[in-house]
Amino acid sequence: MRVQVLNLVKEYDGVRVLDIEKLSFKEGRFHVLMGPNGSGKSTLLGIIAGLVEANTGRILYSDRQRDFQAVRRDITLVMQRSYLFNTSVYNNIISGLKYRGMNKSILRERALKWAEALDLNLFLHRNARTLSGGERQRVALARALVLKPGLLLLDESTANLDPESIIIIEKVLRDFLKESGATIIFVTHNVFQAKRLADRAYLLMDGRVIEAGESKEFFSNPDSELTRGFLGGEIVY
Ligand SMILES: Nc1ncnc2c1ncn2[C@@H]1O[C@H](COP(=O)(O)OP(=O)(O)O)[C@@H](O)[C@H]1O
Ligand SMILES: [Mg+2]
Repeated sequence: MRVQVLNLVKEYDGVRVLDIEKLSFKEGRFHVLMGPNGSGKSTLLGIIAGLVEANTGRILYSDRQRDFQAVRRDITLVMQRSYLFNTSVYNNIISGLKYRGMNKSILRERALKWAEALDLNLFLHRNARTLSGGERQRVALARALVLKPGLLLLDESTANLDPESIIIIEKVLRDFLKESGATIIFVTHNVFQAKRLADRAYLLMDGRVIEAGESKEFFSNPDSELTRGFLGGEIVY
């Protein structure tokens, strides 16, 4: 799903935390948003996910320039810490689909597919709340992917996880993108991870887009001094 951000301003108590004239995210592409702590990444994702209201500006979705209400069921957000229900891993994975009244065998097929991909097969009957942090995030991602979102938003979803879970999640996201042609917007402040994943990369600072570009160009030859500083680790986050 295509996403266009236009003349977006967000303020908290009169302080401007986002000020973006224009940004667009395209189908089939892995967009990675970086920036120091407090630069507005989560706020931007929250606005795109329909959870946070902007002061001014618009977000248009799909080629038909729909508004949020028309596409809301096609958008899924995975946060840094996911809320899991106090029930089995399997029930958690299907919890989003169940409410959409889907046929039981299709539901099961989809759930097992992503459980397998995310290496959750051995846990399906365990209570989700007994899992480790990395396992929990894999459940949260499986729950998101069974919904087949056209727009998948991830906010620091692999921060502080065990390396093995990070490797699995990154592979699954790439595979999902390839097979679905969805749009992925992935927030991280890990430059190495951004390099591994991005088709297109963005640097946000103080609520503004400092740099946006194709991955190769962005990481090897950025325009902005600030980007060079950020990539070089000179800016502390
Ligand atoms: N609900 C809120 N109320 C007041 N200020 C907020 C709220 N949410 C975020 N902020 C402020 O907005 C700025 C951007 O925050 P955020 O989008 O969370 O940044 P990031 O995700 O890049 O760390 C920060 O200065 C933060 O303190
Ligand atoms: Mg954040």
